[in-house]
Amino acid sequence: MIKFLDIKTINEPFEAAFQEKLNSFLERGWYILGDEVKAFEEEFAAYCGSKYCIGVGNGLDAIILAFKAYIEMGNLQEGDEIIVPANTYIASIIGIIHAGLVPVFVEPDERTYNIDPKQIEAKISEKTKGMLIVHLYGQLAPMDEIMEIGYKYDLLIVEDAAQGHGLPFKGSHTRAFSFYPGKNLGALGDAGAVVTNDEKLAKTIKSFSNYGSETKYYNDYLGFNSRLDELQAGFLRLKLPHLTSENEKRRAVAQRYLSEINNDKITLPFYDGSDNHVFHLFVIRTAKRDELQRYLSENGIQTMIHYPVAPHRQKAMKEFHHLSFPITEKIHEEVVSLPMSSVLTEDEIGYVVKILNGY
Ligand SMILES: Cc1ncc(COP(=O)(O)O)c(C=O)c1O
Repeated sequence: MIKFLDIKTINEPFEAAFQEKLNSFLERGWYILGDEVKAFEEEFAAYCGSKYCIGVGNGLDAIILAFKAYIEMGNLQEGDEIIVPANTYIASIIGIIHAGLVPVFVEPDERTYNIDPKQIEAKISEKTKGMLIVHLYGQLAPMDEIMEIGYKYDLLIVEDAAQGHGLPFKGSHTRAFSFYPGKNLGALGDAGAVVTNDEKLAKTIKSFSNYGSETKYYNDYLGFNSRLDELQAGFLRLKLPHLTSENEKRRAVAQRYLSEINNDKITLPFYDGSDNHVFHLFVIRTAKRDELQRYLSENGIQTMIHYPVAPHRQKAMKEFHHLSFPITEKIHEEVVSLPMSSVLTEDEIGYVVKILNGY
């Protein structure tokens, strides 16, 4: 069977180094916020071309802590509105709400699945103070247009880059990352980070992630406990130097799918051929999604749905059930994610193509 995502094989080349890292971790006997976290923060900041990186517990916390810090610093107030794509993973929305802010949904561009910049201004009100921009499936959202709108209305621009490790940086205020195991840069458990050039923000988030304390047992804020795990930081440091080449491999897989899949019943993703896509996922669309998924499964190809239910339609989001986002809803009914990773073989790609062309 061709797995949707073979994490074990992705991590296999690192196993000996992981073991060694675990051994040195045990020898050191320092478990929380040690040298590994500090080194990873420096290395990931450099990778992102940013001054500061703050390791946190996971990607959802990265979003919450970034917004909470902005509230603490007075850049945002509870109840402020944050523009966010309607077509995203629900964590983006949960992050805004848990920070005490109000999500305002904007429909996607049906071609890219990312937020449609042309529809943003109509949603901006007196209360709009920021945007949370998602690079869905690993494709850079239209940041140039978004930055322009941000300047025009003086909005904070936070990127939910959970699916976009390695994308070009276009000057937003903050980027939130997840290192969930299945991400392009995946830990062996939960992990996340916030990246920024703003020193005050970096300090505030660092403190917020550690009970609101900069100096042990002296608390400046009512903070959280959401620190990047020392051992996960050590594992991430071993994988980070390979991220660029792994993203290249993902793009090569995508190029083959795009040039070889040829079936009228299937809509392929938009890709401009540049480094504006890191193909966290390769998502196709089809009218009879369940039928296609069953056909692929019968032929030994595992697929996933990202995502089956739009955030505003989730049981947890009752206050938004009255809203209607036809493009978002249609996308959620039609998408199927094909096997995508840096370790798919040429034969496997060829087989997926052959089976899809025979559908
Ligand atoms: C777009 C997006 N935002 C946020 C998250 C949350 O990250 P985590 O699972 O590390 O909390 C994820 C991944 O799960 C995601 O895909």
